[in-house]
Amino acid sequence: MNAIRFSDLCAQGSVAAKRVFIRADLNVPQDAHGAITEDTRIRASAPCIQMALDAGAAVMVTSHLGRPTEGAFQPADSLAPVAKRLGELLGRPVPLVADWVDGVTVAPGQVVMLENCRVNPGEKKNDPALARKMAALCDIFVHDAFGTAHRAEASTYGIAEYAAVACAGPLLAAEMDAIAKALLAPKRPLVAIVAGSKVSTKLTILKSLAANVDQLIVGGGIANTFMLAAGLKIGKSLAEPDLLDQAKAVIEAMQARGAAVPIPTDVVTAKTFAADAVATVKAATDVADDDLILDIGPQTAQALAAQLMRAGTIVWNGPVGVFEFAAFENGTKVVAQAIAASSAFSIAGGGDTLAAIAKYGIESKIGYISTGGGAFLEVLEGKTLPAFEILGRRASA
Ligand code: 3PG
Repeated sequence: MNAIRFSDLCAQGSVAAKRVFIRADLNVPQDAHGAITEDTRIRASAPCIQMALDAGAAVMVTSHLGRPTEGAFQPADSLAPVAKRLGELLGRPVPLVADWVDGVTVAPGQVVMLENCRVNPGEKKNDPALARKMAALCDIFVHDAFGTAHRAEASTYGIAEYAAVACAGPLLAAEMDAIAKALLAPKRPLVAIVAGSKVSTKLTILKSLAANVDQLIVGGGIANTFMLAAGLKIGKSLAEPDLLDQAKAVIEAMQARGAAVPIPTDVVTAKTFAADAVATVKAATDVADDDLILDIGPQTAQALAAQLMRAGTIVWNGPVGVFEFAAFENGTKVVAQAIAASSAFSIAGGGDTLAAIAKYGIESKIGYISTGGGAFLEVLEGKTLPAFEILGRRASA
Protein backbone atom coordinates (compact mmCIF):
# COMPACT_ATOMS: atom_id res chain seq x y z
CA MET A 1 0.00 0.00 0.00
CA ASN A 2 1.43 3.35 -0.97
CA ALA A 3 0.31 5.51 1.95
CA ILE A 4 1.71 6.62 5.26
CA ARG A 5 0.20 4.42 7.96
CA PHE A 6 -1.07 6.03 11.14
CA SER A 7 0.08 2.96 13.08
CA ASP A 8 3.67 3.66 11.94
CA LEU A 9 3.43 7.30 13.04
CA CYS A 10 2.18 6.14 16.45
CA ALA A 11 4.95 3.54 16.75
CA GLN A 12 7.55 6.23 15.90
CA GLY A 13 6.22 8.45 18.69
CA SER A 14 5.28 11.17 16.17
CA VAL A 15 1.70 11.54 17.40
CA ALA A 16 2.10 12.53 21.08
CA ALA A 17 0.44 15.89 21.83
CA LYS A 18 -0.44 16.32 18.14
CA ARG A 19 -3.91 17.36 16.96
CA VAL A 20 -5.26 14.40 15.04
CA PHE A 21 -8.33 14.66 12.79
CA ILE A 22 -9.84 11.25 12.02
CA ARG A 23 -12.35 10.92 9.17
CA ALA A 24 -14.27 7.76 9.96
CA ASP A 25 -17.32 6.25 8.25
CA LEU A 26 -19.84 6.10 11.08
CA ASN A 27 -22.78 6.13 8.68
CA VAL A 28 -24.85 3.46 10.45
CA PRO A 29 -28.47 2.43 9.96
CA GLN A 30 -31.00 3.87 12.42
CA ASP A 31 -34.65 3.19 13.15
CA ALA A 32 -37.43 5.80 12.98
CA HIS A 33 -36.51 7.02 16.47
CA GLY A 34 -32.82 7.44 15.64
CA ALA A 35 -31.70 4.30 17.50
CA ILE A 36 -28.74 2.55 15.88
CA THR A 37 -29.83 -0.80 14.44
CA GLU A 38 -26.40 -2.07 13.37
CA ASP A 39 -23.09 -0.75 14.73
CA THR A 40 -20.40 -2.61 12.76
CA ARG A 41 -18.90 0.60 11.37
CA ILE A 42 -18.62 2.18 14.83
CA ARG A 43 -16.93 -0.94 16.22
CA ALA A 44 -14.62 -1.07 13.20
CA SER A 45 -13.66 2.60 13.66
CA ALA A 46 -12.95 2.46 17.40
CA PRO A 47 -9.43 0.95 17.15
CA CYS A 48 -8.09 3.97 15.23
CA ILE A 49 -9.52 6.38 17.80
CA GLN A 50 -8.12 4.30 20.65
CA MET A 51 -4.75 4.16 18.88
CA ALA A 52 -4.67 7.96 18.67
CA LEU A 53 -5.63 8.33 22.34
CA ASP A 54 -3.03 5.77 23.42
CA ALA A 55 -0.43 7.73 21.45
CA GLY A 56 -1.28 10.87 23.43
CA ALA A 57 -3.01 12.83 20.67
CA ALA A 58 -5.77 15.43 20.94
CA VAL A 59 -8.37 13.57 18.89
CA MET A 60 -11.14 14.88 16.68
CA VAL A 61 -13.30 12.35 14.85
CA THR A 62 -16.02 13.07 12.33
CA SER A 63 -18.21 11.28 9.81
CA HIS A 64 -21.14 11.86 7.56
CA LEU A 65 -24.50 10.40 8.56
CA GLY A 66 -27.00 10.00 5.76
CA ARG A 67 -27.29 12.54 3.00
CA PRO A 68 -28.33 15.79 4.73
CA THR A 69 -28.81 19.14 3.05
CA GLU A 70 -25.71 21.31 3.43
CA GLY A 71 -26.21 24.30 5.67
CA ALA A 72 -29.59 23.04 6.93
CA PHE A 73 -28.86 20.85 9.93
CA GLN A 74 -31.83 18.82 11.21
CA PRO A 75 -31.92 16.91 14.52
CA ALA A 76 -32.13 13.64 12.57
CA ASP A 77 -28.74 14.43 11.00
CA SER A 78 -26.99 14.44 14.36
CA LEU A 79 -24.15 12.10 15.23
CA ALA A 80 -25.33 12.18 18.88
CA PRO A 81 -26.40 8.49 18.98
CA VAL A 82 -23.11 7.58 17.32
CA ALA A 83 -21.07 9.58 19.85
CA LYS A 84 -22.94 7.82 22.66
CA ARG A 85 -22.25 4.36 21.20
CA LEU A 86 -18.61 5.21 20.56
CA GLY A 87 -18.33 6.38 24.16
CA GLU A 88 -19.64 3.00 25.35
CA LEU A 89 -17.09 1.20 23.21
CA LEU A 90 -14.18 3.40 24.31
CA GLY A 91 -15.30 3.44 27.94
CA ARG A 92 -15.23 7.22 28.11
CA PRO A 93 -17.57 10.05 27.16
CA VAL A 94 -17.25 11.40 23.62
CA PRO A 95 -18.51 15.01 23.63
CA LEU A 96 -20.19 16.15 20.43
CA VAL A 97 -19.07 19.51 18.97
CA ALA A 98 -21.32 21.51 16.62
CA ASP A 99 -20.17 24.36 14.31
CA TRP A 100 -16.59 23.19 14.44
CA VAL A 101 -15.10 24.30 11.14
CA ASP A 102 -13.51 27.50 12.49
CA GLY A 103 -11.96 25.97 15.60
CA VAL A 104 -12.09 23.03 18.01
CA THR A 105 -10.92 22.94 21.61
CA VAL A 106 -9.52 19.55 22.53
CA ALA A 107 -6.58 18.63 24.73
CA PRO A 108 -4.09 15.75 24.35
CA GLY A 109 -5.60 12.55 25.70
CA GLN A 110 -9.14 13.77 24.91
CA VAL A 111 -11.49 12.81 22.09
CA VAL A 112 -14.35 14.85 20.68
CA MET A 113 -16.77 14.05 17.88
CA LEU A 114 -17.35 16.74 15.28
CA GLU A 115 -20.99 16.92 14.18
CA ASN A 116 -22.06 15.45 10.80
CA CYS A 117 -19.47 16.76 8.34
CA ARG A 118 -21.90 16.57 5.42
CA VAL A 119 -23.89 19.47 6.81
CA ASN A 120 -20.98 21.85 6.17
CA PRO A 121 -21.56 23.92 3.00
CA GLY A 122 -19.02 22.84 0.38
CA GLU A 123 -18.45 19.33 1.75
CA LYS A 124 -19.87 17.35 -1.18
CA LYS A 125 -18.20 19.50 -3.83
CA ASN A 126 -14.85 19.32 -2.04
CA ASP A 127 -14.72 23.10 -1.68
CA PRO A 128 -11.03 24.05 -1.26
CA ALA A 129 -11.79 26.82 1.27
CA LEU A 130 -13.66 24.38 3.51
CA ALA A 131 -10.98 21.71 3.08
CA ARG A 132 -8.23 24.19 4.03
CA LYS A 133 -10.13 25.19 7.18
CA MET A 134 -10.48 21.57 8.22
CA ALA A 135 -6.81 20.89 7.48
CA ALA A 136 -5.89 23.85 9.69
CA LEU A 137 -7.62 22.17 12.63
CA CYS A 138 -5.03 19.40 12.80
CA ASP A 139 -1.39 18.38 12.58
CA ILE A 140 -2.24 14.94 11.23
CA PHE A 141 -5.20 13.90 9.07
CA VAL A 142 -6.14 10.23 9.33
CA HIS A 143 -8.39 8.74 6.63
CA ASP A 144 -10.01 5.70 8.18
CA ALA A 145 -13.31 5.79 6.27
CA PHE A 146 -13.16 2.98 3.71
CA GLY A 147 -16.94 3.11 3.26
CA THR A 148 -16.50 6.66 1.95
CA ALA A 149 -13.18 6.11 0.16
CA HIS A 150 -14.92 6.38 -3.23
CA ARG A 151 -16.07 9.94 -2.49
CA ALA A 152 -13.85 12.97 -3.10
CA GLU A 153 -15.39 15.33 -0.55
CA ALA A 154 -13.82 18.06 1.58
CA SER A 155 -13.46 15.83 4.66
CA THR A 156 -12.18 12.83 2.72
CA TYR A 157 -10.10 14.33 -0.10
CA GLY A 158 -9.51 18.07 0.16
CA ILE A 159 -8.36 17.87 3.76
CA ALA A 160 -5.89 15.14 2.76
CA GLU A 161 -4.42 17.50 0.17
CA TYR A 162 -3.89 20.38 2.57
CA ALA A 163 -3.18 18.78 5.98
CA ALA A 164 0.45 18.88 7.15
CA VAL A 165 0.44 15.06 7.25
CA ALA A 166 -2.16 12.78 5.65
CA CYS A 167 -2.18 9.07 6.40
CA ALA A 168 -4.28 5.90 6.36
CA GLY A 169 -5.92 4.71 9.55
CA PRO A 170 -5.85 1.02 10.53
CA LEU A 171 -9.30 0.22 9.09
CA LEU A 172 -8.55 1.83 5.73
CA ALA A 173 -5.13 0.15 5.68
CA ALA A 174 -6.66 -3.26 6.49
CA GLU A 175 -9.19 -2.85 3.67
CA MET A 176 -6.46 -1.80 1.25
CA ASP A 177 -4.26 -4.76 2.26
CA ALA A 178 -7.14 -7.26 1.93
CA ILE A 179 -8.09 -5.91 -1.49
CA ALA A 180 -4.47 -6.04 -2.68
CA LYS A 181 -4.14 -9.61 -1.42
CA ALA A 182 -7.34 -10.68 -3.19
CA LEU A 183 -7.07 -8.82 -6.47
CA LEU A 184 -3.48 -7.69 -7.09
CA ALA A 185 -1.48 -10.72 -6.01
CA PRO A 186 -4.06 -13.47 -5.50
CA LYS A 187 -3.25 -17.06 -4.73
CA ARG A 188 -4.88 -18.92 -7.64
CA PRO A 189 -7.35 -20.11 -8.63
CA LEU A 190 -9.08 -16.79 -8.01
CA VAL A 191 -12.86 -17.28 -7.89
CA ALA A 192 -15.29 -14.36 -7.82
CA ILE A 193 -18.98 -14.57 -7.05
CA VAL A 194 -20.96 -11.64 -8.41
CA ALA A 195 -24.66 -11.83 -7.81
CA GLY A 196 -27.51 -9.39 -7.78
CA SER A 197 -30.69 -8.61 -9.58
CA LYS A 198 -29.31 -6.76 -12.61
CA VAL A 199 -26.39 -7.20 -14.98
CA SER A 200 -26.60 -3.48 -15.79
CA THR A 201 -25.66 -2.42 -12.26
CA LYS A 202 -22.66 -4.76 -12.16
CA LEU A 203 -21.57 -4.87 -15.79
CA THR A 204 -18.37 -2.90 -15.16
CA ILE A 205 -17.50 -5.24 -12.30
CA LEU A 206 -18.16 -8.32 -14.45
CA LYS A 207 -15.98 -6.94 -17.27
CA SER A 208 -13.18 -5.97 -14.91
CA LEU A 209 -13.18 -9.32 -13.11
CA ALA A 210 -13.43 -11.23 -16.41
CA ALA A 211 -9.90 -10.04 -17.15
CA ASN A 212 -8.49 -11.32 -13.86
CA VAL A 213 -10.37 -14.19 -12.25
CA ASP A 214 -10.24 -17.91 -13.06
CA GLN A 215 -13.91 -18.61 -12.31
CA LEU A 216 -16.63 -15.98 -12.43
CA ILE A 217 -19.68 -17.33 -10.62
CA VAL A 218 -22.79 -15.30 -11.38
CA GLY A 219 -25.98 -15.45 -9.35
CA GLY A 220 -29.48 -14.03 -9.03
CA GLY A 221 -30.92 -12.05 -11.94
CA ILE A 222 -27.39 -11.71 -13.34
CA ALA A 223 -27.19 -15.52 -13.71
CA ASN A 224 -30.55 -15.52 -15.52
CA THR A 225 -29.18 -13.18 -18.18
CA PHE A 226 -26.10 -15.40 -18.54
CA MET A 227 -28.33 -18.48 -18.86
CA LEU A 228 -30.18 -16.71 -21.68
CA ALA A 229 -26.83 -15.88 -23.28
CA ALA A 230 -25.93 -19.58 -23.07
CA GLY A 231 -29.12 -20.43 -25.01
CA LEU A 232 -31.23 -21.61 -22.05
CA LYS A 233 -34.86 -20.67 -21.40
CA ILE A 234 -35.56 -18.80 -18.16
CA GLY A 235 -39.38 -18.46 -18.26
CA LYS A 236 -40.51 -15.20 -16.71
CA SER A 237 -37.43 -14.84 -14.50
CA LEU A 238 -35.88 -11.45 -13.97
CA ALA A 239 -33.33 -10.77 -16.72
CA GLU A 240 -32.06 -8.08 -19.09
CA PRO A 241 -32.31 -9.46 -22.62
CA ASP A 242 -30.88 -6.23 -24.06
CA LEU A 243 -27.59 -7.06 -22.31
CA LEU A 244 -27.21 -10.50 -23.87
CA ASP A 245 -24.34 -9.37 -26.08
CA GLN A 246 -22.52 -7.96 -23.08
CA ALA A 247 -23.01 -11.22 -21.18
CA LYS A 248 -21.76 -13.20 -24.19
CA ALA A 249 -18.72 -10.92 -24.40
CA VAL A 250 -17.90 -11.66 -20.75
CA ILE A 251 -18.24 -15.42 -21.35
CA GLU A 252 -16.03 -15.20 -24.45
CA ALA A 253 -13.41 -13.05 -22.71
CA MET A 254 -13.20 -15.62 -19.94
CA GLN A 255 -13.03 -18.56 -22.37
CA ALA A 256 -10.26 -16.87 -24.35
CA ARG A 257 -8.13 -16.90 -21.18
CA GLY A 258 -8.96 -20.52 -20.34
CA ALA A 259 -11.25 -19.27 -17.55
CA ALA A 260 -14.99 -19.85 -17.18
CA VAL A 261 -18.39 -18.53 -16.17
CA PRO A 262 -20.13 -21.63 -14.75
CA ILE A 263 -23.72 -21.75 -16.03
CA PRO A 264 -26.24 -23.48 -13.68
CA THR A 265 -27.16 -27.04 -14.64
CA ASP A 266 -30.18 -27.11 -12.34
CA VAL A 267 -32.36 -24.45 -10.72
CA VAL A 268 -35.09 -23.99 -8.12
CA THR A 269 -38.22 -22.44 -9.61
CA ALA A 270 -41.59 -21.15 -8.41
CA LYS A 271 -44.68 -19.78 -10.09
CA THR A 272 -44.80 -16.69 -7.87
CA PHE A 273 -42.25 -14.59 -5.97
CA ALA A 274 -43.33 -15.38 -2.40
CA ALA A 275 -41.92 -16.95 0.75
CA ASP A 276 -44.60 -19.65 0.67
CA ALA A 277 -44.37 -20.36 -3.08
CA VAL A 278 -43.93 -24.04 -3.98
CA ALA A 279 -40.27 -24.67 -4.84
CA THR A 280 -39.48 -27.07 -7.68
CA VAL A 281 -36.00 -28.33 -8.52
CA LYS A 282 -35.49 -28.91 -12.22
CA ALA A 283 -32.79 -29.19 -14.85
CA ALA A 284 -31.73 -25.84 -16.29
CA THR A 285 -32.95 -27.14 -19.67
CA ASP A 286 -36.49 -27.73 -18.34
CA VAL A 287 -37.55 -24.24 -17.24
CA ALA A 288 -41.19 -23.59 -18.24
CA ASP A 289 -42.53 -20.37 -19.72
CA ASP A 290 -44.31 -19.43 -16.47
CA ASP A 291 -41.40 -20.32 -14.16
CA LEU A 292 -39.43 -17.91 -12.01
CA ILE A 293 -35.88 -19.03 -11.18
CA LEU A 294 -35.31 -18.14 -7.52
CA ASP A 295 -32.20 -20.18 -6.69
CA ILE A 296 -29.53 -22.40 -8.18
CA GLY A 297 -30.28 -26.11 -7.89
CA PRO A 298 -28.53 -28.53 -5.50
CA GLN A 299 -26.33 -30.06 -8.23
CA THR A 300 -25.10 -26.61 -9.29
CA ALA A 301 -24.58 -25.59 -5.66
CA GLN A 302 -22.44 -28.68 -5.01
CA ALA A 303 -20.40 -28.07 -8.18
CA LEU A 304 -19.76 -24.46 -7.15
CA ALA A 305 -18.91 -25.57 -3.60
CA ALA A 306 -16.30 -27.95 -5.03
CA GLN A 307 -14.76 -25.11 -7.03
CA LEU A 308 -14.72 -22.85 -3.98
CA MET A 309 -13.02 -25.56 -1.94
CA ARG A 310 -10.23 -25.70 -4.56
CA ALA A 311 -9.85 -21.92 -4.76
CA GLY A 312 -6.79 -20.02 -3.57
CA THR A 313 -8.68 -16.73 -3.28
CA ILE A 314 -12.41 -15.94 -3.23
CA VAL A 315 -14.09 -12.57 -3.78
CA TRP A 316 -17.76 -12.62 -2.78
CA ASN A 317 -20.37 -10.04 -3.65
CA GLY A 318 -23.99 -11.09 -3.61
CA PRO A 319 -26.19 -14.07 -2.64
CA VAL A 320 -26.89 -16.54 -5.48
CA GLY A 321 -30.60 -16.92 -4.76
CA VAL A 322 -33.50 -15.45 -2.79
CA PHE A 323 -31.92 -16.56 0.49
CA GLU A 324 -34.42 -14.53 2.54
CA PHE A 325 -37.03 -17.23 1.65
CA ALA A 326 -36.29 -20.62 3.28
CA ALA A 327 -37.31 -22.59 0.19
CA PHE A 328 -34.82 -20.70 -1.97
CA GLU A 329 -31.86 -20.30 0.37
CA ASN A 330 -30.03 -23.57 -0.29
CA GLY A 331 -27.72 -22.24 -3.02
CA THR A 332 -26.55 -19.28 -0.97
CA LYS A 333 -26.22 -21.43 2.14
CA VAL A 334 -24.11 -24.09 0.37
CA VAL A 335 -21.93 -21.41 -1.25
CA ALA A 336 -21.52 -19.58 2.08
CA GLN A 337 -20.59 -22.77 3.90
CA ALA A 338 -18.11 -23.72 1.17
CA ILE A 339 -16.44 -20.31 1.42
CA ALA A 340 -16.29 -20.75 5.19
CA ALA A 341 -14.80 -24.24 4.90
CA SER A 342 -12.36 -23.36 2.11
CA SER A 343 -8.72 -22.67 2.97
CA ALA A 344 -8.80 -19.86 0.37
CA PHE A 345 -8.31 -16.26 1.43
CA SER A 346 -11.79 -14.77 1.11
CA ILE A 347 -12.98 -11.19 0.96
CA ALA A 348 -16.67 -10.31 1.07
CA GLY A 349 -18.58 -7.07 0.78
CA GLY A 350 -21.95 -5.55 -0.03
CA GLY A 351 -25.13 -5.27 2.04
CA ASP A 352 -26.86 -8.51 1.00
CA THR A 353 -23.63 -10.45 1.27
CA LEU A 354 -23.12 -9.28 4.85
CA ALA A 355 -26.72 -10.28 5.63
CA ALA A 356 -26.04 -13.79 4.27
CA ILE A 357 -22.79 -14.04 6.26
CA ALA A 358 -24.68 -13.08 9.41
CA LYS A 359 -27.55 -15.50 8.66
CA TYR A 360 -25.19 -18.47 8.34
CA GLY A 361 -22.97 -17.38 11.22
CA ILE A 362 -19.72 -17.56 9.26
CA GLU A 363 -18.23 -14.14 10.13
CA SER A 364 -15.13 -15.66 11.70
CA LYS A 365 -14.49 -17.91 8.68
CA ILE A 366 -14.26 -15.10 6.13
CA GLY A 367 -10.74 -13.76 5.56
CA TYR A 368 -11.91 -10.16 5.40
CA ILE A 369 -15.36 -8.59 5.55
CA SER A 370 -15.36 -5.14 3.98
CA THR A 371 -17.14 -2.22 5.66
CA GLY A 372 -17.62 -0.63 2.25
CA GLY A 373 -20.81 -0.80 0.19
CA GLY A 374 -20.36 1.41 -2.88
CA ALA A 375 -16.63 1.67 -2.18
CA PHE A 376 -16.21 -2.12 -2.30
CA LEU A 377 -18.10 -2.30 -5.59
CA GLU A 378 -15.93 0.43 -7.12
CA VAL A 379 -12.81 -1.50 -6.11
CA LEU A 380 -14.21 -4.56 -7.90
CA GLU A 381 -14.79 -2.35 -10.93
CA GLY A 382 -11.04 -1.84 -10.99
CA LYS A 383 -11.22 1.85 -10.10
CA THR A 384 -8.58 3.63 -8.04
CA LEU A 385 -10.57 5.14 -5.20
CA PRO A 386 -9.94 8.86 -4.49
CA ALA A 387 -8.78 8.04 -0.94
CA PHE A 388 -6.08 5.70 -2.20
CA GLU A 389 -5.01 8.16 -4.89
CA ILE A 390 -4.59 11.17 -2.59
CA LEU A 391 -2.95 9.24 0.23
CA GLY A 392 -0.55 7.69 -2.27
CA ARG A 393 0.25 11.13 -3.67
CA ARG A 394 0.87 12.56 -0.20
CA ALA A 395 3.08 9.60 0.73
CA SER A 396 5.22 10.14 -2.39
CA ALA A 397 5.48 13.91 -2.07
C1 3PG B 1 -22.18 3.98 2.59
O1 3PG B 1 -23.10 3.85 3.39
O2 3PG B 1 -22.03 3.20 1.61
C2 3PG B 1 -21.14 5.02 2.85
O3 3PG B 1 -21.26 5.56 4.12
C3 3PG B 1 -21.17 6.07 1.78
O4 3PG B 1 -22.37 6.79 1.87
P1 3PG B 1 -22.82 7.72 0.62
O5 3PG B 1 -23.20 6.79 -0.49
O6 3PG B 1 -23.97 8.52 1.14
O7 3PG B 1 -21.64 8.56 0.23
